[in-house]
Amino acid sequence: MTLKNITVLGSGIMGHGIAQISAMSGYKVKLRDIEKQFLDRAMDKVKWSLQKLAEKNKITNDQVEEFYNNITPVVDLNEAVKETDLIIEAVPEDYNLKKSVYKELDKITDSKTIYASNTSTLPITELSKLIDNPNRFIGVHFFNPPQLMKLVEIIPGTETDPLIIEEINNYVKKIRKTPIICKKDVAGFIVNRIFIPLVHEAAHCLDRENNSMEIVDSAVKYRLDFPMGIFELADYTGLDVIYKATYEMNLRDKKVILPHPKIKELYETKHFGQKSGKGFYEYKGDKYERIDLSEEKASKYDPISILAVASNNASWLISNEVCSKEDLENALKLGMGLKTEIFKLIEKYGVQKVLDELNKLKEKYGEFYLPDKYLLSLK
Ligand code: 3HC
Repeated sequence: MTLKNITVLGSGIMGHGIAQISAMSGYKVKLRDIEKQFLDRAMDKVKWSLQKLAEKNKITNDQVEEFYNNITPVVDLNEAVKETDLIIEAVPEDYNLKKSVYKELDKITDSKTIYASNTSTLPITELSKLIDNPNRFIGVHFFNPPQLMKLVEIIPGTETDPLIIEEINNYVKKIRKTPIICKKDVAGFIVNRIFIPLVHEAAHCLDRENNSMEIVDSAVKYRLDFPMGIFELADYTGLDVIYKATYEMNLRDKKVILPHPKIKELYETKHFGQKSGKGFYEYKGDKYERIDLSEEKASKYDPISILAVASNNASWLISNEVCSKEDLENALKLGMGLKTEIFKLIEKYGVQKVLDELNKLKEKYGEFYLPDKYLLSLK
């Protein structure tokens, strides 16, 4: 089977980006949302992004038009999935919402359609049971912004047909991304198992150590070599996305996150981050904007507790054979833009110092910080 027609369900930050990069590789894409105004906003973002890429000579001005025209925005669901080969679902991270979407889809698609979910955290095997034919279901997880981030995690469910895994692997390569297979269908897969808990940990740092956000973020950026600070990245990703991912992950696995109430509070007060003008920080508009972080601010804080939590979750992924160490480092580089490998950072700090930090945190705040056996084995 050769994929030609793709339907992307949901036109938010991820949906419009996935539609755009698919359109940029020649696929005919239907982008579907429940209201025209959402689609109008999404198509504006596609235009902005294509023009940005043209400004940087990554594509030509003619291609801006051509790629834009490869996307058809549609409200009607029947029309959106007519003659489609692949549905990529990118609706908000809410199990009940996804359930109702799949129920509706199953009535109108034909038996050959591939279902791929861009869920951030929900187990694929669980989602696959929502359709009649779970062997046609797979996880395909992109990173924000999909236009720039090279990683796509592929998560097969227990019943996914191997031919579908191959088909999706080829699609990911065709859109010039790097596929990494998540060998176990765990909550949060690879990158979110590290990223989402870090947002909570950074919030704990503010209370426990009386720090400012800019100082913590500067330390993360300049001392841990992240491309953005954690609060900056959380605002950029969206506090709605982070809160929902937290809720769904925590429901399935209590060990993964030590929730901080600030994330729920920001979600409930609709301070979703950059897109709503306020999250942890305040913004001038809803467009791409960066926080003023500096090496001078970074020198005031040692982000060891943030490194310790990231290291512990990274180690958990290896101990539990979710991925190899090599795939993990590659995923963090391509999905979160980390410039230094996490296990190199651990070496730089010293394994014992990282373990001491976890043990200290465990004494004060409980078993969540219990060091993982892989990390212990590095001593
Ligand atoms: N399309 C095209 N261009 C874009 C763009 C888009 N969608 N978004 C931003 N840009 C442009 C900017 O406008 C800017 O252009 P300029 O040079 O003309 O100002 C340029 O790209 C970026 O340059 P910057 O100097 O501002 O930033 P960086 O060099 O740091 O790169 C970044 C930006 C790629 C976003 C980098 O900071 C990064 O990798 N950040 C981490 C992102 C990350 O971790 N993503 C994953 C989050 S987790 C997730 O998505 C999973 C989900 O399930 C929760």
